[in-house]
Amino acid sequence: MSLQLGILVSGNGSNLQAIIDAIASGVLNAKIKVVISDNAKAFAKERAEKAGIPFIVFEKKNFESKSLFEKSIVSELKNAGVNWVVLAGFMRILTSDFLKEFPNQVLNIHPSLLPSFPGLHAIEQAWKHKVKVTGCTVHLVDEGCDTGPILGQSVVEIEDQDTLESLSEKIHAAEHKLYVKILQKLAVVK
Ligand code: GRF
Repeated sequence: MSLQLGILVSGNGSNLQAIIDAIASGVLNAKIKVVISDNAKAFAKERAEKAGIPFIVFEKKNFESKSLFEKSIVSELKNAGVNWVVLAGFMRILTSDFLKEFPNQVLNIHPSLLPSFPGLHAIEQAWKHKVKVTGCTVHLVDEGCDTGPILGQSVVEIEDQDTLESLSEKIHAAEHKLYVKILQKLAVVK
């Protein structure tokens, strides 16, 4: 079956946009069935709506438990016929109850060369450590924080003239290419 994507976001959605654009231009054979956000104010909403993709908000504060919150997301993804879940700036750790509904079918992108700098503020962490190379990683999601099997990485050099801002821009640009590249590979396999 072709890639039927459910994309989970919390914020800006620039990775979502890269995937939307790749599909629209015909370089990625996939369909985004639904975008789900845990933040009603995410700019990703604008991006999804402009592309005519259903955008649904589930805010954790409106649920009695994380389990009920995740169950609602799972049922929306299943109803939409999603076969790959793509985390694109989704700021939550998923539990094993969620992950067993989509075994080895949940992807994440992280703005460092894992296993270096997992967790929050990865670009800032790399900058503070004055590393010479950093980058981004696409991996399968497990119960850990940025720990699942790595599917692909892209290297970004930190050059003398870089600032934290210019480095962030370079990493985000690399992310957009890498996510599309990995999805293209999965689209061929599936
Ligand atoms: C990206 O840097 C991604 O690696 C991290 O969160 C950021 C999301 O950016 N997980 P965007 O919302 O896709 O613009």
